[in-house]
Amino acid sequence: MSSRIAILAAALTVTAGIGGVAWAQGGPTTLDGIYTAAQADQGQAQFSQNCAACHGSGLTGNGEAPALVGGEFISNWAGLTVGELFERIRTTMPQDNPGKLSRAQYAQILAFILKSNGYPAGQKELDQRTEFLKAIGFSPPAH
Ligand code: HEC
Repeated sequence: MSSRIAILAAALTVTAGIGGVAWAQGGPTTLDGIYTAAQADQGQAQFSQNCAACHGSGLTGNGEAPALVGGEFISNWAGLTVGELFERIRTTMPQDNPGKLSRAQYAQILAFILKSNGYPAGQKELDQRTEFLKAIGFSPPAH
């Protein structure tokens, strides 16, 4: 009995050690409810103010700005991590003023983009720390 607890504790220690560094096979993904509905609502308002002029209020793209919903967007990111998408947005967008928003605002916008792509909301807010987001895999939507 106690040796089983020791093994469990060791396994948890290893998981905690790699969590926050990189997504590991079997780790959380975009399918697991990684943002809250309230956060996505706030993100929608932020998106209209800061992103919709180029990407369209329906996220379907406009001229040079690509769609942020649908198959092509998802295939660009599937297999990477939520942290990589977060950094891409945070360091390059809005294209006319990159980095202008706070991490909290970028996390809200990312929650809205996930929602718009059909990923489920959950009980826990999307983190605004890149190293934690890199532990979450960007999965294709469930069918
Ligand atoms: C001034 C126009 C403009 C604004 C404002 C803007 N973008 Fe962009 N965005 C672009 C263009 C053009 C591209 C494609 C060129 C590039 O990748 O930089 C792009 C690319 C992207 C990509 C990469 C898409 C992919 O499939 O990999 C993401 C994600 C993105 N934008 C998110 C955002 C978010 C979120 C905001 C608001 C915070 C925003 N953008 C604001 C013009 C804009």
